[in-house]
Amino acid sequence: MAAPMVPYRWNCADYDSRQAFGNPLMARQTTRHVCQSCGAMHPRWAGRCEACGAWNSIVEEAKPDTAPVGGKGGGPRGGGRSIEFFALDGKNEPMARRKSGIGEFDRVAGGGLVPGSALLIGGDPGIGKSTLLLQAVAGLASGPEPVRCAYISGEESIDQVRMRAARLSVKDSPVTLAAATNVRDILATLDTDNAPEVVVIDSIQTMYLDALESAPGTVSQVRASAQELIRLAKRRGITLLLVGHVTKEGVIAGPRVLEHMVDTVMYFEGERGHQFRILRAVKNRFGPTDEIGVFEMTDTGLAEVANPSALFLADRSGDVSGAAVFAGIEGTRPMLVEIQALVAASPLGTPRRNVVGWDSNRLSMVLAVLETRAGLQFTGKDVYLNVAGGLRISEPAADLAVAAALTSALYGLPLPGAMAVFGEIGLSGEIRPVSQMAARLKESSKLGFTQALTPRWRGKTKSGGMAVRELATVGDLFELFPTDQGAPSRAVGL
Ligand code: TYD
Ligand code: MG
Repeated sequence: MAAPMVPYRWNCADYDSRQAFGNPLMARQTTRHVCQSCGAMHPRWAGRCEACGAWNSIVEEAKPDTAPVGGKGGGPRGGGRSIEFFALDGKNEPMARRKSGIGEFDRVAGGGLVPGSALLIGGDPGIGKSTLLLQAVAGLASGPEPVRCAYISGEESIDQVRMRAARLSVKDSPVTLAAATNVRDILATLDTDNAPEVVVIDSIQTMYLDALESAPGTVSQVRASAQELIRLAKRRGITLLLVGHVTKEGVIAGPRVLEHMVDTVMYFEGERGHQFRILRAVKNRFGPTDEIGVFEMTDTGLAEVANPSALFLADRSGDVSGAAVFAGIEGTRPMLVEIQALVAASPLGTPRRNVVGWDSNRLSMVLAVLETRAGLQFTGKDVYLNVAGGLRISEPAADLAVAAALTSALYGLPLPGAMAVFGEIGLSGEIRPVSQMAARLKESSKLGFTQALTPRWRGKTKSGGMAVRELATVGDLFELFPTDQGAPSRAVGL
């Protein structure tokens, strides 16, 4: 007997809407797309990061497993303990600083290294970060108050670091050395009572946490590794020195993604062709950020340059047109550098404006002021500006020196010999006073300068022995070039 025909009754249990429309839980993405140059997260891959504008910098990474903060059924408090609040006023021990004995390094760090702080030293590959830090820890370990130091290299083998130490003549210094890249191992080793007091991690891009799936050097690895190391450093009072390579392509996460996590950020910079290296603090929770340290790369490592002005001016050739010596201030120190300008007829429709070591927008402004307020003609001419020695200047006080160099280049006549220049230029062509004018004059006089070109002084605190020419506007620059030598008296170009 055939089975009775039972009409099919739709049963809602048969129907799983989650399959038809996609289950938000089941379809949860296990990867994310992270820009390797700024760390921004994107829902899908794109050729260009919308957050920072970098091209080809977005990489797919595994999502880290994160448990919800509240925990299972934890309620609003989620099982957390309440934190303790304190008054602003309280007794603090004065911070004991650990000194490396390398004056330039200690000064940029704010007077020495602070226990329990994290420093990031960024710079192009090959600029000398490993060399500087090996010298610094060697100095710390063998100073008058020896500090226990460890140098953990993820890039070089023990033998390579030893060879470098021999070359730097620091191989007898009691620094302990390790070659490791696994952060879990490093944490286990350092988390003891007699842990080293200063630890160098060279470099953070080679470190990895095995709990994360992404490759070493990606934003998530670099961030997570740094975070773990910093947490340990704070807990144990270790000074952590992280090396970070700056990369142009943005393929590997650069130090930018770490800047907010560390206490101090320093950049080690310099031109490849020059032997000068400049250590610059860009963020410092324990010191000033306008200090720079000047070093010279020699065949036996980095040598401190105690008198940078003398070094930057060493190769100066006297009576050339287009050169002006700027009396600047870097941090607490006056520093004299030569600013060179070249003005040449341009074959191009849009003439070149090339700047090395200064802000190109600032150059455009000075050119515009010289054209409008002093009647000089730079149209149809290429303009090149260079700060000699590979230094980078950011002070507006350099305006007048740049204007003097440009005017001298345009006329083809040198500035009167042995003259130091400083002053800020306003849009109406006025020369404005700048900070620490007396210190600038004093340094110039010490280095053998007999004349100075300065803004108008309000006070009468001039330094002895120097002939000071005070300028009110850029139009007064003409006075520097004697008309009997063929210089136009006013408002005439080449
Ligand atoms: P390094 O410290 O390895 O750079 P980074 O760690 O920033 O990548 O420096 C490498 C360069 O420095 C290399 O080109 C050789 C040069 N150097 C010297 O000129 N003199 C020296 O004594 C040392 C150790 C390196
Ligand atoms: Mg290195």
